[in-house]
Amino acid sequence: MPYRYPDEVIEEVRLRNDIVDVISSYVHLKKQGSNYFGLCPFHNEKSPSFSVSPSKQIFYCFGCGAGGNVFKFVQDYENYTFTEALKMLAERANIVLPEVTYSEEAKKKQDLKSEILRVNKEAGKFYYYQLRNESGTAAMQYLKNRGLTDETMQRFGLGFARTGQDLLYRYLKKQGFTDDVLKNCGIFTYDEKRGVTDKFWSRVIFPIMDVNHRIIGFGGRTMGDAKPKYLNSPETPVFDKGRNLYGLNHARTSRKKNIILCEGYMDVIAMHQAGFNQAVASLGTALTSGQANLLKRYTEDVLLCYDSDDAGTKAALRAIPILREAGISAHVISLSPYKDPDEFIKNLGAEEFEKRLEEAENPFYFEVRIAERSFNLNDPQGKTRFAEEIARMILRFEEAIERDNYIEGVAGKYGMNPDSLRKLVAKYAMKGDGIRIREPVKSGIHDRAKEDDGIKIAQRMLLTWFVEQPKIYPLVKPYLHADDFSPGVYRRIAQMLFEQLDAEKTDPAAIIGKFEEDAEIQEAAKVLQTPLPEGEKTADKERMLKELLINVRTGGLQERLQSGDADMDEVGTMILLKQETERLNNLTFHLDQID
Ligand code: UTP
Ligand code: MN
Repeated sequence: MPYRYPDEVIEEVRLRNDIVDVISSYVHLKKQGSNYFGLCPFHNEKSPSFSVSPSKQIFYCFGCGAGGNVFKFVQDYENYTFTEALKMLAERANIVLPEVTYSEEAKKKQDLKSEILRVNKEAGKFYYYQLRNESGTAAMQYLKNRGLTDETMQRFGLGFARTGQDLLYRYLKKQGFTDDVLKNCGIFTYDEKRGVTDKFWSRVIFPIMDVNHRIIGFGGRTMGDAKPKYLNSPETPVFDKGRNLYGLNHARTSRKKNIILCEGYMDVIAMHQAGFNQAVASLGTALTSGQANLLKRYTEDVLLCYDSDDAGTKAALRAIPILREAGISAHVISLSPYKDPDEFIKNLGAEEFEKRLEEAENPFYFEVRIAERSFNLNDPQGKTRFAEEIARMILRFEEAIERDNYIEGVAGKYGMNPDSLRKLVAKYAMKGDGIRIREPVKSGIHDRAKEDDGIKIAQRMLLTWFVEQPKIYPLVKPYLHADDFSPGVYRRIAQMLFEQLDAEKTDPAAIIGKFEEDAEIQEAAKVLQTPLPEGEKTADKERMLKELLINVRTGGLQERLQSGDADMDEVGTMILLKQETERLNNLTFHLDQID
C-alpha cells in the first residue's frame, strides 16, 4: 500500500466509522432486508439501487457499479484522496492519527494524486507571484482594465505565466518534484527533441479549484488575439472536467437559495465581484450529467446564465435536458441586450441583474420560445406545425398534471385552444412519438467494459454467499480452491476470504481495503454484494449451491487444463470436466442442518 499510515491505524479508523452512519449523513437510506437502500449519489436514478450492507460494511450500486468500503465512499463523494478520507474519518471518530515523519522513500510513495495536487499548488503560487511582480505589470493592467479589484483577483487566485521556455518547470524541479509526477500534471509539454516546456506562456492564469479549494487544473487567457483565447490544462488524475465546476468552492457556501450557471471563468468572477457569489461555470466543455448531479447536491434551483448569442442559446438548450434528468428545473436568465453577464453588470449594474434573476424564464417556455423562431406564425400552416412541435415537446413530462399545466400555459401564451393542443398531445402519445427512451446509465465512474459471463456470476454469488452465511464454507471447502476463481480481483478475493473464513473472522470491507485501483475496488464490492436469486426452500438452495460449485470448479479447471503448463487437449479436458461434474453432483451438503 502506498499509504503512509500503518495498516492497524487504517483498520482502526475504518472499524470506528460505521458505513451506514457515514453514508446516512449524505444519502437518505432505508432498511430493506439485511441491507439499506437509497438513491445513488453517483448517478441519477428515480428508484433506489444503491445498497449499503451493515454486516459487510460495504456499499454497492446495482445501477452504476460504484462500490467499495467507507473510505472509498468518502473519496468518491468528497473527491478526496485516500489520505484525506482517512483524516476526515479519523476526526469523525475522534481518533488522533500518529504523526508521520516522511523519509525520502515515503515521500515518493505518496500516491500520484496528492503529488499532482502539491504540484498544482506550487504552480498556482508561482503564477500568483508572477502576476504581482514587475514581469506581471501588463497582465495586472489587463485585469484591472477588465474591472477586477485586487480582492477579487486574490479570491480567485489569479496569476500570470510570462513568456519563457521552462520557467515553471525549472522552478518545480528545484523544489524536488520528479518528472514521473510533473509528466502527469498537464502543465508541461514533453517533447523528445525540444525537451520539456511550460504549457502556459504569456497568459493570465485562472486556477481551477474543486469544492475543497484545491487547485485541480488551470485555464490561461491570452491578453491579445492569440488563439485559442483560453487554453485549459487537460484532464489528469485529479482533474475531471465533467465532475467539477468553476467557482463552486465559493458558491457552495454562498447561502443563496439558487446557483447561477454561466459559461465562462470571467462571467463567474464578474458576478462574484458584484455580489452574486453563487455563480459557477463549466470548464471549457459543455455541461455534463456529472456536473448536473454535482449541482443537485447543493440546490434544486439553477439559473442558467449563458451568453445571449446563438452559441449560448444552443448551449442552454443542451443544458436544460441534462439538468432536468438530474431533477433540476433550470430557469433561464435573459441578458439582452448584452452578450454576457460580465457586460451586463458593467453596463446596468447589480440591481438590474437581480431583477433578471427574479424574472428568469421557465425552461420549457424558453425552449418553446426558441422553437417558435423556426415557424411562421402568421401562416396557419406554420402555426399548426408549431402546435405539433409543442405537443411533441410536452410528451417529455411524465406526470399528467405537469403536462396539463404546460398545455394550459403554452396555449394561453400563444393564443391556442388548450383542448385542441391536448388532443394533439394525446395523438402523439398514442403513436409513441417524442417519448424518451432512457439511455443506459453512464456514471463516469464505471466505464470499463467488462465481460460478465455465467462463470463469473457464479463466482460472485458463491463468494457473496460465503460472506453472508459463513457456515456454508466448511461444507464446500474440500471441493474448492481459490485457484478455481478467475485470475485477478476474483482470485485475490477468494484467497483473502478463505483465509478469513478459516480463521472464522470475515471482514469484507477489509478485503476491499487491500485493493488500490478504483476499478478494482468497484469490482471487489460487486463480487461481495451479488445476492442469490430469491429462493426460500432448502432444497432449492442445495441445488443452487451445487450448481454454483460445479460452475466455478469446472470453469477454473478448464482454464488451468488448457493453459500453459497442463496444456491438455480438448477431449481430455472434456472427460475430466465431466468426471468432476458427476462427482460434485453426487454430493449432499445437508444445508437443512445449518440455520
Ligand atoms: P467565452 O469566449 O465566452 O469567454 O468562453 P468569456 O468567459 O466571456 O471570457 P472573456 O470575457 O472573453 O475573457 C466561455 C468559456 O468557454 C471556454 C472557457 O472556459 C471560457 O471561460 N473557452 C472559450 C475555452 O475553453 N477556450 C476558448 O478558446 C474559448
Ligand atoms: Mn463569454
